[in-house]
Amino acid sequence: MQKTREQILERLASEPATGPNLANDLGISRAAVWKHVEALRDSGFVIASDDDGYVLESVPEFGADAVEFGLDVPFEIEYHERIESTNARARELAGAGDENVVVLSDTQTGGRGRLDREWVSPSGGIWLSVLIRPTVPTFDAPVFTLAAAVATVQALEETGVDAGIKWPNDVLVGNRKVAGILTEMEGEADRVSWLVVGIGINANVDIGKLPTDRGVTSLEAETGPVDRRAITQRLLSAFYQLQQRPDDILTAWRTHAVTLGQRVRVTTPDGEVVGNAVDIEYPGVLLVETETGRERVTVGDCEHLRPAA
Ligand code: BTN
Repeated sequence: MQKTREQILERLASEPATGPNLANDLGISRAAVWKHVEALRDSGFVIASDDDGYVLESVPEFGADAVEFGLDVPFEIEYHERIESTNARARELAGAGDENVVVLSDTQTGGRGRLDREWVSPSGGIWLSVLIRPTVPTFDAPVFTLAAAVATVQALEETGVDAGIKWPNDVLVGNRKVAGILTEMEGEADRVSWLVVGIGINANVDIGKLPTDRGVTSLEAETGPVDRRAITQRLLSAFYQLQQRPDDILTAWRTHAVTLGQRVRVTTPDGEVVGNAVDIEYPGVLLVETETGRERVTVGDCEHLRPAA
């Protein structure tokens, strides 16, 4: 967000302020203050003017300025009402050399999931892609997907829903999927050039618009309408903090995992692995105890089975 607008909002968040006071404190003209206030009103901030001066009455429900205002980590938000896919847009930005940008949209018309599946993305969701350039070898990349799943679960904690992670990166409420993560990257063997971590949360999404036959749900259906701005801010903040402490990601993932301790069937490119999921290993390998010994599974679709009779 434009720096002066951010400063005006910060001032008004604590108390009302007059135009002349703001002009004086920020070292700009009263006309410039008025112009910035008008711009903030245009992006949805409700700023009344009364005898005390300007009063911040409400913040928009969603959007770039809404999410950037009060965000405690250094991501810039690019917001779209409608876009084909936030991951596709973030890849474009990666090609242009950007980093630490979050592409956020209310609707996606061509959202993609893992294995190139369709990701249904109606209005009311949180569809976002974080573009980062971590200085790590490509081997480490999967751990950022785990971090995104942990950050998503942590962001949902305050909504009251009890979410858990199904390996590697599905966020479930009960046994229904409420969020998914698709990470894409470019790099050479020893170095990641960029990572796009795409996160889709079925937030205020009408359940009738989701493919419920595929076992999905929305936060709205589980708990009623949620504050998308707060969830997005908490998610980005948690993801950024985990990025700074990669050694903590696995521990946090284990805390929220619903797969560990379960009997699972993982469909991998080399066939099925059936057994008990016992642990996860860096950077995201699932350890499965099978009848013939311990298997290390790096990629696949995981299904939770009922315990063997
Ligand atoms: C999955 O579980 O299959 C992953 C779903 C990832 C969906 C998100 S929504 C935001 C971003 N843009 C996309 O096109 N996909 C990801």
